[in-house]
Amino acid sequence: MASQTELTQGHQIIDALLEPAMLLDHNGRVAKANEQAHEWFGSWIDQQSYVSVLRQPDLLAPVEDAFGHHRTGSARFSHSSGAVETLFDVTVTPILGAARRSEVLLVFRDVSAKRVEESMRRDFVANVSHELKTPLTAVMGFIETLQGPARRDAAAQDRFLGLMSQETARMNRLVSDLLALSRLEGLTRRRPTDQVDLCAVLREALDTLHPVAEAAAVTIAFEAPDKAMVLGDRDQLVQIAVNLVENSIKYGARPGQVQISLTYKSREPVLRGPAWAMEVRDDGPGIPPEHLPRLTERFYRVDTGRSREQGGTGLGLSIVKHIVNRHRGRLRIDSREGRGTAMTVVLPAEV
Ligand SMILES: Nc1ncnc2c1ncn2[C@@H]1O[C@H](COP(=O)(O)OP(=O)(O)OP(=O)(O)O)[C@@H](O)[C@H]1O
Ligand SMILES: [Mg+2]
Repeated sequence: MASQTELTQGHQIIDALLEPAMLLDHNGRVAKANEQAHEWFGSWIDQQSYVSVLRQPDLLAPVEDAFGHHRTGSARFSHSSGAVETLFDVTVTPILGAARRSEVLLVFRDVSAKRVEESMRRDFVANVSHELKTPLTAVMGFIETLQGPARRDAAAQDRFLGLMSQETARMNRLVSDLLALSRLEGLTRRRPTDQVDLCAVLREALDTLHPVAEAAAVTIAFEAPDKAMVLGDRDQLVQIAVNLVENSIKYGARPGQVQISLTYKSREPVLRGPAWAMEVRDDGPGIPPEHLPRLTERFYRVDTGRSREQGGTGLGLSIVKHIVNRHRGRLRIDSREGRGTAMTVVLPAEV
């Protein structure tokens, strides 16, 4: 152990660092490791040679370089424990230590979260491009047909213009959903403060969807109290109701029935207080259990073909989830194959 006067800059710095860090003495042994490094690597590393502690050639090379040529370097280091792999960016810095001998400081920065974020962003861009490309390609095809073979065919022109309007409406919906999502992401921390009546919210959503339900031969039953007050953002709550009821109409049975209810719970355990539960239930084919955990992911669809046919983009439930989170509520999905689906939004009640 070094005496007080021999303690180097490195020794003092290490304890102040929030990341795992260790200092190697001129013999390449771990002279000091901070608490975080002990947590990650174990307490056995003290006084061990860096070769046996680090063991990954990618990292050994810059350490040798730091000792041999006083060069600063960096490397990626992966640490696995069980099935979990953590990725670190390691900076390797030579410093002049006790008795003017060279020591090397290693600082480990956890970049796993950043990696997951990067890959999510890549997936997202790929998904958006793909979703836009399909209708865009169709529209380009229709334009070509209108300029060529269908030039003087009035009936064909009508048909193609109709299809083009469908495809552009689809792109328009996709873009507004994406804008809604990005706006919501910026808002999640700010809890809405308006007094909103969920009964009125549901009535508005049902008015909007009435023609859609009728066209699909779906009847809607709505059971509600006189008033169901929550603190919320009215437009966003209408959006939740529209999304859930629309899904029940689109993916439920035909002819079918959708049941909507609003129930008061004087103490909802998860929210630790009084709550309103808004349930939308259909008698459709249900959702196979393996899909349930992923339903609220952006662009996730159980049956891509069927959803596309219905004009769906797979963003509805991820928007619902964001809105529910912003309202400090919960979304519950209960679905059994062959028995139908129930989606419940639980929101803190305003009493
Ligand atoms: N009530 C339901 N019954 C059966 N499947 C459902 C039900 N609700 C949702 N799903 C499935 O979950 C998927 C995701 O739903 P979501 O609302 O996020 O997207 P979408 O309806 O496809 O598109 P969008 O809502 O953006 O128009 C749907 O594609 C569908 O496969
Ligand atoms: Mg939907």
